[in-house]
Amino acid sequence: MPGTTEQIALLAEEGLRAISSAKTESDLLDAKGRYFGKKGAISEFLKGVASLALEERKRVGAAANEARTNLEAAFARRLEEIREKERRAREGFDRVDVTLPGRAPAIGHRHPISRTLTEIIAIFQRLGFSVRGGPEIEKDYYNFEALNIPKDHPARDMQDTFYIDWPGGDLVLRTHTSPIQIRTMETMSPPVRVIAPGAVYRCDSDVTHSPMFHQVEGFAVDRSITMADLKGLLTEFCRMMFGEGKPLRFRPSFFPFTEPSAEVDIRCVNCGGSGCRVCKDSGWLEILGCGMIDPAVYGFVGYDPEEYTGFAFGMGVERIAMLRHGISDIRLFFENDLRFLSQF
Ligand code: DAH
Repeated sequence: MPGTTEQIALLAEEGLRAISSAKTESDLLDAKGRYFGKKGAISEFLKGVASLALEERKRVGAAANEARTNLEAAFARRLEEIREKERRAREGFDRVDVTLPGRAPAIGHRHPISRTLTEIIAIFQRLGFSVRGGPEIEKDYYNFEALNIPKDHPARDMQDTFYIDWPGGDLVLRTHTSPIQIRTMETMSPPVRVIAPGAVYRCDSDVTHSPMFHQVEGFAVDRSITMADLKGLLTEFCRMMFGEGKPLRFRPSFFPFTEPSAEVDIRCVNCGGSGCRVCKDSGWLEILGCGMIDPAVYGFVGYDPEEYTGFAFGMGVERIAMLRHGISDIRLFFENDLRFLSQF
């Protein structure tokens, strides 16, 4: 009988097709019965080859066995697929309700402190200031000495900080961004007009103090800069930051690196000046420290105090964000509670 092995190959092919198109276990059993079960087409076919010569019978028998093995393997694979699919359907994996609204991925946004910082920087850039940075682990010299705060000076107590043990010398986590004044003036001659934003550290923790917070330092040095320039600049800054019609108040103060020194208050954003809990009934809120750069500081950087004058100021970014948004606890900024952060 010519072509017997080809016929087996054909039957095997049909069988494979039936297996792969089976959708259920019973389709699959049905395909097995028809092609390679005890009474399937292959067995039936083999009955008709008894009359063949021995050699030929051997060849056909081998082809039939190979076809059965292949079909059984395909059967087992497909059975596994069908069962897995049924299991997933039972557990609801593949159920899609096309009428449901889509699920948008959650998109984050910038932290209120970064946003406030960006706004402050943008305002001063518009007013002609450039931005500089400095290290957060700072030399005692830049953080204190060169800002006219000698060792053992009581002003150091106001800024108690984290000291770092280091064989190379005294290092501290900077307590303010003022050291960038010194670092800048060491490398640039006047005129300078710079703001310096960044993180600072103090041994402090309560509702209005965090051991890590942010400041923006600003300073300008040139010929004939006066306190009027400082007042004009800060008035303009507050107008841009807090809106029109918010009066400012300059109160005499003390900082070792400015002379004269002042603290600046704005009208209470909560009560408008009539007195409330936020402003402790004063009607005013302190927002920054400032002053005319002390000539002693120029001595450390090699500027001639007879030729140049300048002003400096430093503000707390968290404080400004708290005032703008009516937030009463600074720790909320650092707890990363999304219920708080997503409001901004
Ligand atoms: N560095 C001061 C502080 O952290 C803030 C400050 C006050 C900065 C007066 C200044 C300034 O530049 O003139 O408390």
